[in-house]
This record gives sequence, structure tokens and C-alpha cells, in this order.
Amino acid sequence: ERQAIIRNFSIIAHIDHGKSTLADRILEKTGALSEREMQDQFLDKMDLERERGITIKLQSVRLPYKAKDGKEYILNLIDTPGHVDFTYEVSRSLQACEGALLVVDASQGVEAQTLANVYLALENDLEIIPVINKIDLPSADPERVKKEVEDVIGLDASDAVLASAKAGIGIEEILEQVVEKVPAPEGDPDAPLRALIFDSVYDPYKGVIIYMRVVDGTIKKGMRMRMMATEKEYDITEVGAFAPHPVIMNELSAGEVGFVVANIKNVRDTRVGDTITDANNPADEPLPGYRRINPMVFCGLYPVESSAYDDLREALEKLELNDASLTYEPETSTALGFGFRCGFLGLLHMEIIQERIEREFGIPLITTAPSVVYKVYQTDGKVLEIENPTLMPEMQKIDRVEEPYVKASIMVPNDYVGTVMEICQNKRGNYLDMNYLDTNRVTLTYELPLAEIVYDFFDQLKSSTKGYASFDYELIGYKASNLVKMDILLNGEVVDALSFIVHRDRAYQRGRALTEKLRKLIPRQMFEVPIQAAIGNKVIARETISAMRKNVLAKCYGGDISRKRKLLEKQKEGKKRMKAVGSVEVPQEAFMAVLKID
Ligand code: GTP
Repeated sequence: ERQAIIRNFSIIAHIDHGKSTLADRILEKTGALSEREMQDQFLDKMDLERERGITIKLQSVRLPYKAKDGKEYILNLIDTPGHVDFTYEVSRSLQACEGALLVVDASQGVEAQTLANVYLALENDLEIIPVINKIDLPSADPERVKKEVEDVIGLDASDAVLASAKAGIGIEEILEQVVEKVPAPEGDPDAPLRALIFDSVYDPYKGVIIYMRVVDGTIKKGMRMRMMATEKEYDITEVGAFAPHPVIMNELSAGEVGFVVANIKNVRDTRVGDTITDANNPADEPLPGYRRINPMVFCGLYPVESSAYDDLREALEKLELNDASLTYEPETSTALGFGFRCGFLGLLHMEIIQERIEREFGIPLITTAPSVVYKVYQTDGKVLEIENPTLMPEMQKIDRVEEPYVKASIMVPNDYVGTVMEICQNKRGNYLDMNYLDTNRVTLTYELPLAEIVYDFFDQLKSSTKGYASFDYELIGYKASNLVKMDILLNGEVVDALSFIVHRDRAYQRGRALTEKLRKLIPRQMFEVPIQAAIGNKVIARETISAMRKNVLAKCYGGDISRKRKLLEKQKEGKKRMKAVGSVEVPQEAFMAVLKID
């Protein structure tokens, strides 16, 4: 029977514990890639991902494996993204599996993301196989980490594979355990088709390529398929699997993993978590767990050169093709001109998109500080969702404002508990719980406003714990807070792109810190420039940039011509990221400055 020889599994791990390296070794061991083709981290496709050492787009590979029992198996390895921003995608790709390798670094032990991923795997009823990786490191302590896996996660680690993905140790044992322990897929091959979409990418020639797992029935070329949530229908032109190169197949049936192509022009029609069925013989119920995910963090993206506006729109259009969770709409700022308000799943997602626009499309950007979505209850009964601080109504019209909260778990060595608690207090956190993992490590649980996490939380956490803290969070809902809009005035004019929303108790301190910071960031102009922070009409802080005294070029006159040219070039370079706001030249950093004060 076909299903009996299939094993569908993922690799879950904390960032940097070696997931991609292990995936490479598995590809190598199963002979999926020839020596010549073997390149590091095949599953991490994009350069950007490689540079940052993170996995964004998940994928699947179909690997033939001859096990020690003499049988030929088909292993489908489904890759998962490794960051908290993409939790929903991780959970859907885990739903496509029956088992998961849990990779834990033998010198680091269990981290926040290890646990978060284990919970996702358990929610999806996966068989979890612990792998203690990096045993080649001198600092490796596999016995301690095994014990941690048992004590902290509650998994039996007596059979945990001791491995080194780097040195190629333990790979075969891992594959044998996958065959032995991961259950073969169940599901009814004769039932109406139900296939789970766990990812999709846009290909300029074929249109959208859907990555999916067939749960019931069979999917084949020529079939008219229907996506049950979006209710879109298409005729399937190709069915296949990645091995790891695409291989066209006649059909894929219950338990199998692969791709479908159907001349689809928009990834929005192929939502992660949606169910594909046969339009002519539809299933009664979709697969469980579909959720429409909404962006959590918004910011304004503006071209430095106004003439690049159309290029920016084209870039966003192209990126959107591949990224159903990116949203954007035109926005105008008095300070920055024409640009776009963009929505992202989280901060990392935001940084990735910004970087791709600048690097792949060559458009220098001015980005405004990220904001969360606030719910504003007006006295007239209307409720607004505000994702741009500028749009906050006047104070008199507001009954109350609610902001999104998260539950955050922070794992940290004992010595840093005090430091971390202090950071959390500073970030308006409510302490919930503290748990000792062992004699040396603690998990702290806090309720925190998402906006405070957006404001530099992660960097502060890392730098004040020498990088030892690890962190994970989930959204828990909205709560009322005493929030006000702070405006920044340059030369007496409100700069809309610098407005932000802040808790009233911190408003004074933030206003002071920000004006001070701006004074340092904004270069001197030919005239004096006052910088003010104001709530409504009330100015709460003021700084002044004094006027420029000398022409900087003056000292070059008569001097070395190449030095003069260098200076000019340097100024030009600096100019690129300057935006004229009224008559004041403001550098890019100023628009992000609010993130870096505390
Ligand atoms: P994300 O994609 O960010 O989730 O990281 P990852 O878990 O995929 O980690 P990756 O495979 O990129 O490995 C992270 C680092 O650890 C790299 O520098 C690897 O070379 C190194 N590494 C991976 N496995 C081993 C191992 O067994 N031993 C040693 N010494 N280093 C390893």
C-alpha cells in the first residue's frame, strides 16, 4: 500500500541550532543532490535569507530512502520558517506532517523558540524525535541537554540522537528513527479530495506554485480545483513534487506532499491553511485550523527621490505576488510626500521587505517608525482602527484607546533575572509567572503591550543579557491604556511622519529624549531650528539646533583638490538619505529615532 511507505516530517529548532545544516545533510544522505549540486543550505533559497541565517519561505522535498529493513521509503521533509513572525505558517506546515525532528544545540540547550515550536508540534499531534546537535563542539554537554529535554519539555529523551550536522554524525540514525517512529499518513484515498495548502510562491512563467499535502482523495492534472476558504476555482495544469528539483507526476494521493500549478496569478487566492477540494466532487468540510492572518505592524515607506514613487509601487506589487501577508496602500505625508502605508506580520518581516526593496529593486527608502493597530473608541460611539499615529482623532473626541497585548516568555540564566524584570517593567509589562527550568535557568512570563516590543525590546533584552536571553510571544488581545499622540514640530511645523503614540506616564520622558536625540541627528542648517514635542497644543519639550557658522568647504579652498572632492562626495552620499521637510533637511535616522530612546 502506497501510504505505508510515506513519512512526512519537519525539523523544528531554535534559531541557529542547526536546522538548515541538518536538512542539507539529509538531502546529501538520501542522494537527492549530486555532489556537484550539493550546496550549503539548499532549502534556504534566497540570498537574503542566507545572509541573515534565517529561513523565511518554507518548502518541501521528496526523498527516496532505503531503510535498514530493506524497504524503500518516501520521506517528505517539510521546511518551516524559524521566526516568531511566521508562527502561523509554521503551524500549517506542521499540520502537513506526522512527525518532527526536534533539534537542540548541545551547548545551548532548550530555548524559548524550541519550546514554542514543540507546543505547535504537540498541538498538531506530531511524533517528536529529539536530536541533540553540535556534539562536536568542545562546549557540548549532551547529557545535560537530554535531561533538559526531559525536565523542561517532558519528552522521553533516552533515544535522542546525538548528532553533528556539521560533521555528518548521526544522520543515518535520524533517518532510521523517522522511518520507525513517525507514523505513516492516514486518510482516505477514496474520499473526496482534501489537500492542505502550507505555502505558495509566485513564478513568473507558471504563476502561483502551491505547496500542499493531500489528506484525503487524489489530486491530478486536469481536475477543476476549488479553494474552500477563498472559493476560487482553477483548472490544474501540473502536479508534482520537488526531489528537490521539480518532477511532474500524474497524481498525488492521500498522504503525499507536493505542488500544484493552475495558472493562478495572485497568491492571495491561495491562502496558507486553506483546503483544496475537487470542484466537481467537493468535500463537505474543509480541514481544520484555517485562519486569515492580519498584519500586526505598520509603517510608512517613502522613496527618498519622489520620482521613484512609481518604481516603489511596482516593487511592492512584485513582492506582494509572493507574500500574501504583506499589505500596502498609498499614503501621503506632508513631510515626506507620496508613499505607502505597509502592513507586516512583525518586525522581522518588515525589515526583510525594506531590505529587499532597497537591494533587489535599488530604491532608497525613508521608513517611518513602525506602529501597531490601535482601537479608538470615540465619544460618538464610532470605533476606529488606527495604524498610523497621524490619523488619531483629537483628544476631546476619544472615549478610550485600546492597544494589542502579547504574552511573552523569556528564558534567561538566573543571573539576569533582575535585569530582565527591569526591562519588562520599563516596557509596561505585567508580571505573570516565573519558572525554574533547572538550577541555572528561569522562564519569565509577562504580559506586554505589543507596541513596546516593537520599540527596541528585543535588542535591549539581548544586549543586557549578553545574548543569553531567548524570547517568544503570542498575541492575547486588546486592552485599554492611557495613550496619547505626541507630535514633533520642526521650525514650528508639525512633521506628521514623526508623530507617535505613547503612554501618558512616559510621554514627558519620551518627548524629552526624542527632541534631544533629534537635535543630535539633524545637521545644522543655515538658520536656527527649534525642535518641539507636543501633546495636543501643549509643548512638553524643546531643543534648538543652532545655525551653521562656517561653510564646511571653506577650509578646503586652496587646499588639496582631491580632499575637496571627497568631501563633496561624502556630502552627496549623506544627502541621499536626507529628506527636505519644509526648509529643514532631515536624515532617515530621525524618522526611526523614536525606536531607540529610553
Ligand atoms: P535558522 O535558519 O536561523 O533557524 O538557523 P538554523 O537552525 O537553520 O541553523 P543553521 O543550520 O544555519 O546553523 C547555524 C550555525 O550553526 C551555522 O553556523 C552552522 O554552521 C552551525 N552548525 C550547524 N550544525 C552544527 C554542528 O553540528 N556542529 C557545529 N559545530 N556547528 C553547527
